[in-house]
Amino acid sequence: MAPRTTVLVTGGAGFIGSHTCVELLDHGYDVVVVDDYSNSSPGALDRVAKIAARPPVAVHELDLLDRRALSRVFDEHRIDAVIHFAARKAVGESVELPVEYYDTNVGGTTALLRVMRDHEVHRLVFSSSCSIYGAAARVPITEQDPAAPTNPYAASKWLCEQVLADTCRHLPELSVLALRYFNPVGAHPSGLLGEVPRTAVPNNVMPYLARVAAGRLPGLSVFGDDYPTADGTGVRDYIHVMDVAEGHRAALEHLDDESGMRVFNLGTGQGTSVLELVAAFQRACGRPIPYEITGRRPGDVSALVADPGGVARAWNWTTRRDLAAMCEDAWRFQECNPSGYPD
Ligand code: WQD
Repeated sequence: MAPRTTVLVTGGAGFIGSHTCVELLDHGYDVVVVDDYSNSSPGALDRVAKIAARPPVAVHELDLLDRRALSRVFDEHRIDAVIHFAARKAVGESVELPVEYYDTNVGGTTALLRVMRDHEVHRLVFSSSCSIYGAAARVPITEQDPAAPTNPYAASKWLCEQVLADTCRHLPELSVLALRYFNPVGAHPSGLLGEVPRTAVPNNVMPYLARVAAGRLPGLSVFGDDYPTADGTGVRDYIHVMDVAEGHRAALEHLDDESGMRVFNLGTGQGTSVLELVAAFQRACGRPIPYEITGRRPGDVSALVADPGGVARAWNWTTRRDLAAMCEDAWRFQECNPSGYPD
C-alpha cells in the first residue's frame, strides 16, 4: 500500500484550516497541524477528530516565527506538502496594527519557506485573498486583473505572493499554488465545525447574522445602501467553506502539474448583496432579521465577485454549494454551538 501523503497545515485550527483538515483526513491524507491559537481554539481540532475519518497525526502549538520549533516538526514528520493558512486576517485590525500584520503574515511565510527549503519540501498551497484586488475596476475579477491592496492585511497577502514568486524563481523545484479566496462562509453540515469569531461582536456579516437570528444581537447594521449596485448595498462572492476546503484538496492534487508559482481565484462567480444575504438567511433560519441602513464602513468596496474560470479550465473544478446551503449550515452551527467551542 502506498504511504499516505502527509500534509502540514499551518493555522489548522482556524475556520478554513479546520474544515480543510476534515476534507484531507476524509480523503486519505495524513495531517499535521501547527497553530498558535491566537485566532482559533484547540476545541476546533477536537471537533475535526470527531467528524473526520481519522484524527490529525499530530498537533503542535507554535508560532511560525519560531523557526527552531517549526524545524523540529519537519524533523519529526515526513512532510510531503504544506498548506499555509496561518495569518492575521482582519482588515480593520490591520490598519491599527500594520507592523504585527506584516510580521505575522509576511514574516511567518518567509520563516516557513526557509524551513521548507532546509528540509527539501517543495510543494506549497498558499492562502491568499480577493482583498488584494482592492476596489476592482470591474467584476467579475480574473487573476490577470491588477492587484491594488488598500489596507495592510491585503498588502501583506500581495507581498507574500511576491515573495513566493521570487522564491520559485530561486528554487526551480518549488511548486506553489496561491488561492485568492473571496468570502468564505458557512460551516460543516454536521453542525460541529464552523466560524467562531474571537471578537465579542463579529466583524464579518455571516456570523453576525447568525447571532442576530439567535437573539444574541439586536439587529444588523447594513453598511451603506448608496453603492452602485442593484439595491445599493455591498456585493460579495460568498463561497461555502466546504467548497474552499475541497478547492485545497484539488490544489494539492495539481501541485505536480508543473513547478513554479500559479495563482487562482476561489469563488463562485455569483454576486450577492447584503440585503439579498439577509433575505437568504431569514429563509434559512425561519426568523425575521432586523436591520437598519447605516453609513458605509471605511475601507469597504462596492463589489467583489470572482471569475472562477481559472480553476475550471485548469482543474475542471467548480464550487458545488449554493447560498441557501451556506446560510443553512451557518445557522445549524449557531444553533448547535450558541457560544462557540468549549475551549
Ligand atoms: C461583507 C459585506 C460589508 C458586516 C472579509 C475580509 C476579507 C476577506 C473576506 C480574508 C460587505 C457588509 C458586513 C456588517 C454589513 N477575508 N457588512 N454589516 O469585508 O467583504 O471581506 O472576508 O481574506 O479580508 O475583510 O466581508 O463579511 O465583513 O462584509 O453590512 O455588520 O457585508 O459592508 O459589503 P468583507 P464582511
